[in-house]
Amino acid sequence: MVPFKIAPHIALCHSFTEFTASFNVTADDLIVTNAFIDLGIQKAELTARVIFQEKYGAGEPSNQMVDQIFKEARKKPYRRVIAIGGGTVIDVAKLLTLGGEGNTIDYFDGHLPVEKARELIIIPTTCGTGSEVTNIAIMEIKEQHTKKGLANDALYADYAVLIPELLTSLPYKVFATSSIDALIHAVESFVAPGSGAITELFGVKAIETILAGYKKVVTNNRKLEKEWMGDFLLASTYAGIAFSNTGVGAVHAMSYPLGGVYHVPHGEANQQVFTAIFREYKKLQPEGKIEKLEQILSECLMVPAHTIWEVLDNLLEQILPKKPLHEYGMKKEEIEAFADSVIENQQRLLKNNYVPLSKEQMMEIYTALY
Ligand SMILES: [Fe+2]
Repeated sequence: MVPFKIAPHIALCHSFTEFTASFNVTADDLIVTNAFIDLGIQKAELTARVIFQEKYGAGEPSNQMVDQIFKEARKKPYRRVIAIGGGTVIDVAKLLTLGGEGNTIDYFDGHLPVEKARELIIIPTTCGTGSEVTNIAIMEIKEQHTKKGLANDALYADYAVLIPELLTSLPYKVFATSSIDALIHAVESFVAPGSGAITELFGVKAIETILAGYKKVVTNNRKLEKEWMGDFLLASTYAGIAFSNTGVGAVHAMSYPLGGVYHVPHGEANQQVFTAIFREYKKLQPEGKIEKLEQILSECLMVPAHTIWEVLDNLLEQILPKKPLHEYGMKKEEIEAFADSVIENQQRLLKNNYVPLSKEQMMEIYTALY
């Protein structure tokens, strides 16, 4: 039995100004963010030091990006790290709280202890990662040509602060990929072997909120309304709480090679394999948690349970259309190598599957989506 845990304090703020006043942001703080994020105030007005992550590299975080940021951050002492951004900014900020003067790789490869030396406040500006409530940082280790995850309780934020206003200028594509990621966190967590009544509570609320929101997005011809963003932000945090307790499974595992080799954004890569994996689960073990999941989905979407995967596919297609995998550049001869790589590198995730998937079953899924 693993006890249920929510590590950070969670605060809701109406505006960034309310946050800076309530949390007494001063020159001793280090803010990590992106220049394009509209905080509703001029960043020059802040007394805290501000590091713009994109100055140190584009895309998902890498050890080289973080090493450059370490150099800049360590020029002056700081007592707190405040992350304002999406997954990349948050992963970078988690590492900036650690003690020691090492490089990123030293923490990932165990050459330096992973110990919290500073407080961490996380303010997410997308609605998907759930990283504000998890203890994981994921990073590409360039020299080793792989992505590695560092999971350690030292990486938990002290505070997760939710400010829906910061999501109002979210580009549609980022909204779509991040919210689908959140939905998948909730669904994978729900059927994971470690899931129990309390994690289910958070997962189900996330699923209900996201699907109700998607129906509005579709009816509104994909135009996002500001007042919906708070719901998606909360749903993403609920899903984060659920999966930080149970982990996620095969959808995340099988999407990794797409992200790693073809740089498909995380949520988009997950969307490609999501329902195909759940249809396979249903085939392999039709009774059990998946029935309960189908019942919840059928109530949310108001359709009979036996039609649920088709209806969900249609809805998600209208939020973020899927593409055949070859359109991302994937080659047919890579199908087996992808399945091998998932089995070799993603056991951390595969142990959270609803039912085990063999190499052949994974290859069948990739082939059908190819
Ligand atoms: Fe994810």
